[in-house]
Amino acid sequence: MINDKKIIFSGIQPSGNLTIGNYLGALKNFSEYIDNYKCFYCIVDEHAITVRQVPADLRRRSYEMMALYMACGLDPTNENVTLYVQSHVPAHAELAWILNCFTGFGELSRMTQFKDKSAKHADNINAGLFTYPALMAADILLYQTDIVPVGIDQKQHVELTRDIANRFNQLYPDTFTIPEPVMKKTGAKIMSLADPTKKMSKSDENQNAVVYILDDKDTIIRKFKRAVTDSDTCVRVAEGKDGINNLISIYSCFTGKTDEEIEREFEGRGYGDFKLAVGEACADALAPVQAEFKRIMSDKAQLEQFMKNGADEAAYYARKTLSKVRRKLGFVQI
Ligand code: TYM
Repeated sequence: MINDKKIIFSGIQPSGNLTIGNYLGALKNFSEYIDNYKCFYCIVDEHAITVRQVPADLRRRSYEMMALYMACGLDPTNENVTLYVQSHVPAHAELAWILNCFTGFGELSRMTQFKDKSAKHADNINAGLFTYPALMAADILLYQTDIVPVGIDQKQHVELTRDIANRFNQLYPDTFTIPEPVMKKTGAKIMSLADPTKKMSKSDENQNAVVYILDDKDTIIRKFKRAVTDSDTCVRVAEGKDGINNLISIYSCFTGKTDEEIEREFEGRGYGDFKLAVGEACADALAPVQAEFKRIMSDKAQLEQFMKNGADEAAYYARKTLSKVRRKLGFVQI
């Protein structure tokens, strides 16, 4: 608890331009907590280097993510909101090393993200990619986090974090709060527009598979028009209609309508009409975020100041947990 409030932590990697998957599965939901929780939202640049990054791009995207957090309603001057960059708070890397010593080789080998990424980057299966979940556990546990809002693909990592925390607490009682992953019913797994059996991913090379938060209206509509669907013509949720199911979820997230309302709205109308409506709803919902983003990005000095304030505050809480951990482990305090 901080100021009698439960604690939220979540992070996003600045490893590519953010997609509507990141937005609907995570970012859009972050602001729901700011009145009743103490929230730490992190730009996890140390996770991003587990695959090769172009330095100038990584730096630019870190600024952009800070601005996107703010454009999505996270005000860094609100005392319940701490926005910062992971590499600015060294405690993350330090606790990650410690937690590595409490994480099993077998556990890490079972992580689906590791399996996927090592297949995709077969030329660079580095130790950091393998121990990635221990750093993620450190992120979460450093702040005595109660709740972690994420998309479905990160659930396995949060569950491993719980296992690590329980294991540590058994050996050294009352060290960590055990965190709970929280996912939305709709939007927790947005699928690729080109292959709706695959998750939409910011690292997808097929630009038509992915809608980015910062895409302009024409681009968004064009991408939805091209979305892969099926040979049926009826807009309804059904087993095997992965493309349409995905578009219905996206439309539902952007408009707040239920599946039944959507099916009724498009009764007797074809996929063409529906795809256009999804594109328009998406572009209209993103327009204010994009305008705010542009405004915030125009003052880089202020953005940096917010990053610095966030890092100072995060470091204060992180240090408390870290010194408790160090003491419990038997490290000499000087
Ligand atoms: P990352 O950067 O891949 O994604 C950021 C958030 O977006 C969600 N997400 C999706 N949700 C719905 N549909 C999709 N297609 C989709 N793609 C991504 C992710 O689930 C995530 O919530 N390991 C994390 C970053 C991280 C983190 C943390 C998260 C590092 N430390 C601590 C929570 C707590 C990651 O790679 O997310």
